Amino acid sequence: MSLVTFAASPLVITPTVRSFTFSPPIRRSNNTVMSAVRSEATSTCPVLTKFKKDCATPTPFLRDVANAIADDMQAGLAVHGGGDLEMILTYVDALPSGKEEGLFYALDLGGTNFRVRSVQLGGEEERVVATKSEQLSIPQKLMIGTSEELFGFIASKLADFVAKEEPGRFRLDQGRKREIGFTFSFPVNQTSIDSGTLIKWTKGFNVSGMEGKNVVACLNEAMEAHGLDMRVSALVNDGVGTLAGARYWDKDVMAGVILGTGTNACYVEQKHAIPKLQNQSSSGTTIINTEWGGFSKCLPRTIFDQEMDKDSLNPGEHLYEKMISGMYLGEIVRRVLLHMCQTSDLFGQAVPAKLETPLALKSQDLCKMQEDNTDDLSSVGSILYNIFEVKADLKDRRRVVEVCDTVVKRGGRLAGAGIVAILERIERETKRLASGQRTVVAMDGALYEKYPQYRQYMQDALVELLGDELASHVQIKHTKDVSGLGAALLAATNSIY
Ligand code: BGC
Repeated sequence: MSLVTFAASPLVITPTVRSFTFSPPIRRSNNTVMSAVRSEATSTCPVLTKFKKDCATPTPFLRDVANAIADDMQAGLAVHGGGDLEMILTYVDALPSGKEEGLFYALDLGGTNFRVRSVQLGGEEERVVATKSEQLSIPQKLMIGTSEELFGFIASKLADFVAKEEPGRFRLDQGRKREIGFTFSFPVNQTSIDSGTLIKWTKGFNVSGMEGKNVVACLNEAMEAHGLDMRVSALVNDGVGTLAGARYWDKDVMAGVILGTGTNACYVEQKHAIPKLQNQSSSGTTIINTEWGGFSKCLPRTIFDQEMDKDSLNPGEHLYEKMISGMYLGEIVRRVLLHMCQTSDLFGQAVPAKLETPLALKSQDLCKMQEDNTDDLSSVGSILYNIFEVKADLKDRRRVVEVCDTVVKRGGRLAGAGIVAILERIERETKRLASGQRTVVAMDGALYEKYPQYRQYMQDALVELLGDELASHVQIKHTKDVSGLGAALLAATNSIY
């Protein structure tokens, strides 16, 4: 078995896309890389021993997970609500061709940040002539406030952005309105390319009274109130935006996956393979937004997962997301540590008060701890001290890293199983991999980008399930922030002019 080569391939810089391409071909890792080194320390704590056992994801188990996801994909394509995965029809039948021209905008709402972007497209020759973007963090109170407050905030920031536009760089053709691709990264029941109703909130959002409402109408009202004469021409999920933006530069992109605060996967499906696609042409392809975060079957959920879910803003929902995405990994670790503290000598006799604070530990903290290569795990010690005000001895530090590794390994491997389910679905219709055709998964999200151990575990699972030969034709391509470009391109494709 070959050893891992998880090397970054050449950095590709385009006017708008900074894309790192990882590991062509993907290979299985040597078990001793990175965090696995630390996890070899045998735990002597019964809670930890049991937790590790409960979180195990051996290959045959992952195969069952991938098959169960595939079954739910099929069920969701057959009828609306047929399975855990919504398998949303996105009305994106045509992906960007490269010929798009004109000035378009992208609004991106979906996590802790909100982004606005303008893109001047110059057609096949010039491609992206100019682009400008601004990012703002969404105040926590707006995430759980009213729709008027949230959309009012978005419209006011959009108005500021447009007011600062440099006329020399960005040109709107006469007689046209400014057209927007609105990336709204929550499950939406899409009713056309430019409208859709919110199914439910995820990722800590809980804006009142919005479920069932048309999100584009909410934005339109707010824009009107701010005197903005703009038009939403495409409503897209961030996974769809990532796929579309990445496809603009690379024709082999067949799927878009997000592994960040939340998670999702979108892919190119053959229309004839979608039974629920009624009254529409059954030839050609369309993009399906799987909303795979909603998958819930045969997952290795522990008591800590169950309790975290119970205390979340969306209990019982998005259970797969709660095991694999960035918003939750730190919180699972915190809950395990708290329980270890309560039932063993971790961190001494008393339970540190700060360890009881929900969401105190973030996935980036886990990553920093797993990357600590010092003999005495000194950065693990300082991170624990800074966050929980505990003085952890070496034995405790080792145990903490073991917990982190257990959670991250499970998350990465489950995400890998999901990607395999998507690839095998694409393969069923296209036989791309079997015929040796390069197949690209465009990937975005801070968890994937910034957590090498997670990435490695994900890739290991992918190779284990697909096998070396098929996996060698798969490329997981990190396409950072292309979803905004994708949304602007889809606004162009669906322009009314
Ligand atoms: C949402 C998806 C979104 C994903 C990544 C999930 O919580 O349900 O619509 O694509 O997060 O942002």
